[in-house]
Amino acid sequence: MTVDLDPVRRISRPGSPISSPIGPGTVPEPTPSPLALLLLGRDADPASERGVACPGELPAASDPTLVERARAAKQALGDRLFVLGHHYQRDEVIAFADVTGDSFKLAQQAAARPAAEFIVFCGVHFMAESADILTSPEQAVILPDLAAGCSMADMATGEQVDEIWDVLADAGVADVTVPVSYMNSSAAIKAFTGRHGGTICTSSNAKRALDWAFDPDGGRGEKVLFLPDQHLGRNTAVLEMGMSLDDCVLVDPHKPNGGLTVEQIRNAKMLLWKGHCSVHGRFSLDSVADVRARVPGIRVLVHPECRHEVVTAADEVGSTEYIIRAVEAAPPGTAWAIGTELNLVQRLAKAHPEQTIVFLDRTVCFCSTMNRIDLPHLVWTLESLAAGEVVNRITVDPQTSAHARAALDQMLALP
Ligand code: 13P
Ligand code: SF4
Repeated sequence: MTVDLDPVRRISRPGSPISSPIGPGTVPEPTPSPLALLLLGRDADPASERGVACPGELPAASDPTLVERARAAKQALGDRLFVLGHHYQRDEVIAFADVTGDSFKLAQQAAARPAAEFIVFCGVHFMAESADILTSPEQAVILPDLAAGCSMADMATGEQVDEIWDVLADAGVADVTVPVSYMNSSAAIKAFTGRHGGTICTSSNAKRALDWAFDPDGGRGEKVLFLPDQHLGRNTAVLEMGMSLDDCVLVDPHKPNGGLTVEQIRNAKMLLWKGHCSVHGRFSLDSVADVRARVPGIRVLVHPECRHEVVTAADEVGSTEYIIRAVEAAPPGTAWAIGTELNLVQRLAKAHPEQTIVFLDRTVCFCSTMNRIDLPHLVWTLESLAAGEVVNRITVDPQTSAHARAALDQMLALP
């Protein structure tokens, strides 16, 4: 399991004092650790992408009737229900998805289902928020486990981004800067993006989003503030847009003025937010060298959330959908080392026994938050809906939603 320590947003759990008085004969309570994720799914930090506990009674994971129960509840709900499954979900969950996809495809699919009363999103919190923004107020978007957040989305808060925008304004460049925000961000960040005339992008359309943002005919920006994934921003700028590494600077929200001088801000074309995926960020040059030594002739295929040196050392880079298509199109006997989430790599390996498919690194694990959605949570969700109780509904407030919608619509309209 990969767990990030968040250096700034430290939280204490309700009811757990940060420190307790120490008297003679008393044992000091341990100081709560500053975990970015609420690992046991307990407690809440509604201001962030961190999750909360399941409010209901989950069936036991060992219950042998879970598959049957999920099937029966889904059948009872019929057309009132639409289940979306991100490619990184577990097999046991994907088995019940009406459609599977990467975050771009799932956003499109959510927007294209106006008749579905319940959209159960098997993915993570920011995806369900986007689906709520793109659907009508009569439709309920449901996340089976509210603890399914995203550590990358947590790395940019609305307040931090507003502060950095002020820094850009003080440097005299806010007017010529377009925010481009990765789908993997909170609704607050998407709203910031919409308020400042920017667009959302995903790993499938990041180049198109940057082309649009820099388009001189559209009278848009000379610079892009790309958030929150520095790697997707850098990889797209350098490998697909012909920029140099020197055109990119890192904006560190934990440092005064983002850790940048006015001159650095003025000279940069890409202002990259200092965020990353805690799964893809763990693939390394060593992983690439190791697999090449183990399997001569192997093709290394990685997601653009991987670090720049890993992407540069790979044979191919592409979004989740690209990775799937590349494997499907390859001739039998092709050997692949794939650097993306393990559920997807395992599923591809099972579906393509005529090829050799290995995971790029021997120690990187599943995305812990994607994996929180499991069969017990899905059964609990579907049975609750079938019984007339809407549980775990994700709603974005109307003002945030309106601004975020402008940025999402801009993405859906990208040429
Ligand atoms: P895509 O679905 O855009 O490939 O993003 C990958 C990811 O990390 C989702 O959480
Ligand atoms: Fe977030 Fe990375 Fe997990 Fe996607 S794979 S949900 S970006 S931590």
